[in-house]
Amino acid sequence: MNPEMVNKDKTYVVAVSGASGSVYGIRLIKALAESAARVLVILSDAGKKVLAHEMGMDPRESFINFMVRYGVDQSALYRVETFSQDEIASAPASGSFIHNGMAVAPCSMKSLAAIASGYADNLITRSCDVSLKEKRPLILVPRETPFGILHLENMTRAARAGAVILPPSPAFYTGPQSMEDLVDTVVARIMDHLGAEHKLTLRWGQ
Ligand SMILES: Cc1cc2nc3c(=O)[nH]c(=O)nc-3n(C[C@H](O)[C@H](O)[C@H](O)COP(=O)(O)O)c2cc1C
Repeated sequence: MNPEMVNKDKTYVVAVSGASGSVYGIRLIKALAESAARVLVILSDAGKKVLAHEMGMDPRESFINFMVRYGVDQSALYRVETFSQDEIASAPASGSFIHNGMAVAPCSMKSLAAIASGYADNLITRSCDVSLKEKRPLILVPRETPFGILHLENMTRAARAGAVILPPSPAFYTGPQSMEDLVDTVVARIMDHLGAEHKLTLRWGQ
């Protein structure tokens, strides 16, 4: 664990939906957990399928077990809680549950459409709806290419409602040496917008 435990007083909600790029969500959860933040993770059904396909998560294993296999120290995971999309009565579904911000990484076009229209049919979309109405940071990491007009309109609607649209567009000016480095250029920006401290990448001017 990061000895500085810089985010130990913070609570975040991270949803992993069924778009390609599960690694963005996983590395965000890893970085938040390693900084000692409390992290509530919501996996959609499709998100679990993409996690299995892209990152080898066994559908029968727990998410925590998968994170350990991914290389996260078990001691960093004690404040990570996992929810399925159907656990609609759990904490982040209520405005009375206070957190420091929520990210959907990656965010599918289906979840984006639901969020943009306030269609709160599962724990991810309900928690996003609540984050928006409570004026808490909501970062959406939409992944599709190319974007169609409906996707673009939904992003505009979500942004008007208060969400930050943060596409997974990695930066190359920091000289990333691996896929993880590249992914972390995006994760760093998500953490910036969540107000979470980190040292994932160098900042321009450093
Ligand atoms: C391997 C795989 C990759 C996918 N990639 C994307 C994607 O990049 N963007 C997207 O919007 N949907 C993608 N989908 C489709 C979504 O999983 C699907 O629309 C699903 O209903 C999304 O549900 P959710 O938002 O509840 O997770 C992908 C599906 C699979 C199986």
